[in-house]
Amino acid sequence: MAISEAYLAELKDRCDLEAVVSRYVNLKKSGRGMAGLCPFHSEKTPSFHVMREEQYFHCFGCGAGGDVITFIMRIENLDYLDAVRLLAEMAGMPMPEERADDGVAALRRRILEINREAARYYHGVLVSEQGRRGLEYFTARGLSAHTITAFGLGYAPDRWDSLLKHMTEAGFTPEELRQAALAETGRNGGWYDKFRNRVMFPIIDVRGGVVGFGGRVLDESKPKYLNSSDTPVFKKSRCLYALNAAKSSNETLILCEGYMDVIAMHQAGFTNAIATLGTALTTDQARLMARYCKQIIVSYDADEAGRIAAQRAIGLLDEAGLGVRVLRIEGGKDPDEFIKTHGADKFRMMLEKCGGHVEFRLTQEKAKYDLSRPEQKVAFLKKAVEILASLSSPLELEVYASRLAHELEISKDSLIMEAAAVKKRGGQNREKARLRKEISSAQGAGDRVNPEKVRHLRAANAEEELIALLYGSPALLRQMDALITPGDFVTVFNRRVYEALRAQITAGGGAELSMLNAQFTPDEIARITGMLVKWKVSGTSAEARDLAGVIKFESALQRNGQAIAEAAAGSAPEDMNNEEFRNMIKVINRAKTEEKNGGGNC
Ligand code: UTP
Ligand code: MN
Repeated sequence: MAISEAYLAELKDRCDLEAVVSRYVNLKKSGRGMAGLCPFHSEKTPSFHVMREEQYFHCFGCGAGGDVITFIMRIENLDYLDAVRLLAEMAGMPMPEERADDGVAALRRRILEINREAARYYHGVLVSEQGRRGLEYFTARGLSAHTITAFGLGYAPDRWDSLLKHMTEAGFTPEELRQAALAETGRNGGWYDKFRNRVMFPIIDVRGGVVGFGGRVLDESKPKYLNSSDTPVFKKSRCLYALNAAKSSNETLILCEGYMDVIAMHQAGFTNAIATLGTALTTDQARLMARYCKQIIVSYDADEAGRIAAQRAIGLLDEAGLGVRVLRIEGGKDPDEFIKTHGADKFRMMLEKCGGHVEFRLTQEKAKYDLSRPEQKVAFLKKAVEILASLSSPLELEVYASRLAHELEISKDSLIMEAAAVKKRGGQNREKARLRKEISSAQGAGDRVNPEKVRHLRAANAEEELIALLYGSPALLRQMDALITPGDFVTVFNRRVYEALRAQITAGGGAELSMLNAQFTPDEIARITGMLVKWKVSGTSAEARDLAGVIKFESALQRNGQAIAEAAAGSAPEDMNNEEFRNMIKVINRAKTEEKNGGGNC
């Protein structure tokens, strides 16, 4: 759905960027705007700036940037329309009529409808005669009728087309079911249900929509769990099972590995349990959690795989600014089994005494050494000091250092001193790594937004400068059109940006970041905002002409690279127009002299 510029302008008027950002970031006055700690990467000194007048934000640390819509898209993990919808809600503005012909939004609505109906169907089957095996399975695993209803659990019959049959009778097409990842076609073109003879776990997002399913076999066959593949409403890496039910219990969430762990925990009264969906924890999921709580208790399986996964999760959660504690299950393979064998009270006791992640890591390390042998003790201490050095709170450092000192009969002060030294070295290494990263990003390595930039630095810089100029001085467009067309742009990304701006201005509006949000991803918007920060946004037609000249030259160089190379080598190309050719030669000669003098343009 296209949202009109007038609507967006009013929305942005009512949702002042600073006011919106302040809900998430503690902003302090700085220069012409406000600054605070960037919510999109972890940092200790503020490099996240909100420019009041221009109504955009930019982080000098990680490069995030954009307007109020981009900000909401990123921080709330929403797509463009949902971000506009949320802001409209905040501002008390009704959304403009959603047009029926809007493909993606309509498809998403349709898939959500399908999923809801499918969940209803599977649940209905479970509690009917046809679903007896499923119900017996859940009952055998200790689930109460109340739990089964609360989680909307279901059963997919042991037939090839029972869902297809039900859904087509309800007015949905097989093709729509495929888009919802519920049906597939075989080699001979026949349709069949994706989930068969499985107990079903509907996956519900924070807004209460059924976005996908997990299905478990009733026996030992493989794969044990089958999950919906990604659809327009479902991205496994961004979803957390049961977050909709757990999010209101704030402060702390318990993260476990499996559907059944979550359900068993809720049933036992731990209604703050959630799980990933058969994939390792992602940054997106860590951020999602950080929106609903301050602390996570990682409660993974007791096996080696669970231990490794926990260690990985700790890092990600820590980066998302969450406090982390780790629950180690002893006397059971996972929380579900533990609760079943030892009861909810024992589990609660374990929860209460589970240590912070520092304790977890120290215990892990300690187990590897024989502390009665001096050289092993020293080796362990080295590791321990590294762990202590990762603590940012002096108080925590004090606590763990005293405990270790006591345990190993050494001086606490020397531990603290060692940790401080390691920390300092680490700081220097981090600074080096940061510089390396900065340099390599300046060189464009890993530039996913504009991968061509690294190869066409001069062109790309001129393009960006021209874009910034046009953004700030839309009146220059007429002159620019006489000088240059989007086709002259060398890098595809900058061409897209220029075209989009051009279209906006030609349509009678000014240049507006918020209009671009519909066509560009938050990363791309961040890059565009970066251009506005880096280059001047107002200028003269003379400046525009110079820039257009550079771009045209670079693009001719691209197109006629071979001919020019030949020209430089002395053999005249035949198919080149004379003036263009003469200009080329002139420029090549100039470039050669500059090179000799050690100068360069980029
Ligand atoms: P586990 O193998 O630990 O299973 O997988 P579980 O949760 O203990 O399952 P039960 O108790 O035997 O029923 C943990 C999670 O990994 C995903 C599922 O989300 C599961 O809950 N998984 C596991 C899959 O996606 N596919 C599989 O084949 C297995
Ligand atoms: Mn289990």
